[in-house]
Amino acid sequence: MNKPKRGGKPKGQKQMHAPESAQKSGDPMMELRKRIAELSRSKEMLERMNASIQDEIEKITRHHLIFSRKLLEMLENDRRDLAMMLYDYAGQVLIGLKMDLEELEKKGLGGDVLESVGAAKEKTSDLIEFIRKTSRKLRPTVLDNLGLVPATRSLVNDFEKRIDARIDFFSAGMEKRLAPEKETTLFRILQESLENSVRYASADRIYVSLIKIGDRVLLSVEDDGNGFDSDVLSGGSNTGTTGIALMKERTVQAGGEFWIESQPGKGTSVMAEIPAD
Ligand SMILES: Nc1ncnc2c1ncn2[C@@H]1O[C@H](COP(=O)(O)OP(=O)(O)O)[C@@H](O)[C@H]1O
Ligand SMILES: [Mg+2]
Repeated sequence: MNKPKRGGKPKGQKQMHAPESAQKSGDPMMELRKRIAELSRSKEMLERMNASIQDEIEKITRHHLIFSRKLLEMLENDRRDLAMMLYDYAGQVLIGLKMDLEELEKKGLGGDVLESVGAAKEKTSDLIEFIRKTSRKLRPTVLDNLGLVPATRSLVNDFEKRIDARIDFFSAGMEKRLAPEKETTLFRILQESLENSVRYASADRIYVSLIKIGDRVLLSVEDDGNGFDSDVLSGGSNTGTTGIALMKERTVQAGGEFWIESQPGKGTSVMAEIPAD
């Protein structure tokens, strides 16, 4: 082994070791320059590779955004079509059927027949109510006609009828309507959050707020229920949940940010902030 000789250089001057091959070839400076040139070529190559990987990532991200936007649009259009078909067609036919049954009732039928007609009328009414609710859940007309705040109020009322919990709704600065796709985004996030609170939280109170601050709109849904370990969601592993993933995706599509915070026993809070314009 070549041990460096002590005292070979003046004090203070840094000793440079050329590679073994250079020492053999005899001109360490030239070999050093060669190595530096090689390293700088490798560095350039790595930089080029890095740039092309970045390009690829950007391309994939762009494709993903476009693709998921299309999927969300399709989902929303299908829901709207289905809601209209259910309400405008099936609903109307059933309303007609109910009126026919009422006509029959008036015709002074015998006891048994009258009873059967009455029962059929009741079943028809149940079906009309079911169709009305399902159609509203798919795509509430109030959202298109009156906007996000009245649609939120109506959704909160529907949920309050289903559960024991009290839901408080507060809104501020929301006088002007948002673009339809933004209203849809926030409405769907609200719907999913309330559904989750009702399904999993066993909460006593749920607080919903919709606030416009400057050029941002903030939706927040908080419950005081069971909670869960929301850290598992950020672990990067595929948790298999779709509701929360879809809420995030919708927020990203709207150019906003999404947070969900929860701990077992400490309730859950969901927040989505998107640009108003
Ligand atoms: N408000 C909540 N309170 C308690 N647990 C919740 C709440 N929201 C979500 N979770 C938990 O997070 C999981 C994932 O929710 P989500 O992504 O909406 O999927 P899904 O509702 O289909 O299970 C739920 O299964 C539930 O365990
Ligand atoms: Mg869910």
